[in-house]
Amino acid sequence: MTFDGRTALVTGGSSGIGLATARMLRDQGARVAITGRSAQRLAAARRELGEEVLAIRADVSSLADLARMRAALEGAFAPIDIVFANAGVALGTPLATADEATYNAIMDTNVKGVFFTVQAVLPLMRDGGSIILNTSWLNQVGTPGRAILSASKAAVRSFARTMSAELLDRKIRVNAVSPGSIETPIHRGKGQTEEDFRAYAARVGSQVPAGRMGRPEEVAAAVLFLASDASAYMLGAEIVIDGGRSEL
Ligand SMILES: NC(=O)c1ccc[n+]([C@@H]2O[C@H](COP(=O)([O-])OP(=O)(O)OC[C@H]3O[C@@H](n4cnc5c(N)ncnc54)[C@H](OP(=O)(O)O)[C@@H]3O)[C@@H](O)[C@H]2O)c1
Repeated sequence: MTFDGRTALVTGGSSGIGLATARMLRDQGARVAITGRSAQRLAAARRELGEEVLAIRADVSSLADLARMRAALEGAFAPIDIVFANAGVALGTPLATADEATYNAIMDTNVKGVFFTVQAVLPLMRDGGSIILNTSWLNQVGTPGRAILSASKAAVRSFARTMSAELLDRKIRVNAVSPGSIETPIHRGKGQTEEDFRAYAARVGSQVPAGRMGRPEEVAAAVLFLASDASAYMLGAEIVIDGGRSEL
């Protein structure tokens, strides 16, 4: 799979699944731009990915930041062939105790952020391009304490369908990847030791038919497939990469 001469934007490209995808796209010849909120994390990712990668500090929940992101892309980067709307957060929201601030933090990044990211970059996209949204296996199962996160990801799953229908005239396809439990910093609690995390990963892995948590590269591979012409007949679809958790 080669992406020579193509440009790809990865939101939340400074960590985890986004960083693995940015790395894989770069390795396959794409020019890559990444975004995130933390300047420090972005700088570290850029050191790893190489100076030719464009790093833009932008919070997807802020329309002002998205306008700045668009201006930065317009000057140095466009036209864009591939957009991976990946930036997202995962917070617990038990029915009895979840508060409004947590509700807003999840919905503003995972739902509003994805919608307005796509709106911001569409004028910069080449017709025939590919947009990939990052949803979650949680969009189709009921998991205690995850009501808002799961609902946010169900909204993203729905966006893949409606956006793809709306963009038919420009031949821009919109599809989704749906990761299961993937070993990324999103699962790391504050102050958690490596030993604590290994114990957590083993516990989660034991609940997965594949017997382990997934690797970010296993999601990135699906993103590259959806970004490529090999998936030209897929529109509004979802690839589930969850070790069998939602199927078996
Ligand atoms: N790991 C899993 O098990 C799993 C499972 C299903 C779905 N997902 C989804 O996969 C996506 C990536 O998660 P990950 O596991 O790779 O987590 P991660 O390692 O924590 O990476 C999240 C990325 O998103 C960025 N980000 C978060 N909020 C943002 C905002 N408001 N504006 C801009 N950037 C923002 C983060 O950078 P800053 O914090 O510096 O902004 C970081 O680059 C998320 O949408 C997540 O819901 C993950």
